[in-house]
Amino acid sequence: MTALLPIDDSSISRASSLLREGRLVAFPTETVYGLGADASNGRAVASIYEAKGRPSFNPLIVHVAEISALDPLIEWNSYAQILAKTFWPGPLTLVLPRKKSSPVSLLASAGLDTLAVRIPSHPDAQKLLRAVALPVAAPSANASGKLSPTTASHVAESLNGKIDLILDGGPSPVGVESTVIDLTSPTPTLLRHGGLPKERIEAALGVSVSVADGSCNAPRSPGMLASHYAPDLPVRLNATSVSPDEAFLAFGPSADGGKASLNLSPAGDLAEAAANLFSMLRELDKTSASGIAVAPIPEANLGAAINDRLRRAAAR
Ligand code: TXA
Ligand code: MG
Repeated sequence: MTALLPIDDSSISRASSLLREGRLVAFPTETVYGLGADASNGRAVASIYEAKGRPSFNPLIVHVAEISALDPLIEWNSYAQILAKTFWPGPLTLVLPRKKSSPVSLLASAGLDTLAVRIPSHPDAQKLLRAVALPVAAPSANASGKLSPTTASHVAESLNGKIDLILDGGPSPVGVESTVIDLTSPTPTLLRHGGLPKERIEAALGVSVSVADGSCNAPRSPGMLASHYAPDLPVRLNATSVSPDEAFLAFGPSADGGKASLNLSPAGDLAEAAANLFSMLRELDKTSASGIAVAPIPEANLGAAINDRLRRAAAR
């Protein structure tokens, strides 16, 4: 069952213990309510996608309380430093290169080499992030295809019974999601319009910000803007046998084979498989195999999202 608690010292401490145990907690931010999980725990991140019922893995925003907490996670550049100093805490998300040593699960960034990060200003979000002292991955706390929630009861309508706790901090004052800016290429690019106007970002940077195709016309599917992770080696799906020069990505109690093999989940657990998907694909992609053969994955629950990403990887 899902508990709904007003914010005080005891609910914050309950929420931070739950997050540390890998459970899900919805919490208020100034933009919309977020569905939080420990970003460094792949299983916890998998359960975000499970609770939202998403048919694909979209990269998530990682939230921390203060700028210094981002040093282990991302590579800074001068635009990022200016925007961080000017607008954080606040309704702005920066997409930056992910540090190689970043503890954030690859599932949180859907296998990408980049990471979206944000420091929310809402005092209750700040309290929670300080108490838990972990990077918290949090998409908007709605079921897939529903509007972003701006009150605790919106969250309950959408996710009741699917998450452990909802912290009620009243209505979100901004009411729209954060503005997302990609700073991984020389020209800053707006990926999603949101709570911080583009003009204020341009004024702070002293350069114009380009707008990614589709961000005005398709605001309801902003996830489409993120590029997808694809291995260099060719990927062969639904492999029931593996040749000696292939690498094998197994699932369930299947025999090993090929040049190298890794098992997404020997027990056949889809959440475990999701948590391992991108890191294992990357590992096999580094081998001298001729390609990656992937065992059949059932289409149920998280299997739909796993298969969606595998099909994209195979189709590249
Ligand atoms: O206001 C907000 O941003 C809220 C609160 C909870 O912080 N969060 C939110 O998360 O709206 P979500 O998951 O609903 O939207 C995240 C957006 C998506 O458009 C996603 O594609 C983009 O950020 N995004 C995340 N990581 C990315 C990455 N590495 N590269 C490009 N886009 C990314
Ligand atoms: Mg959303």
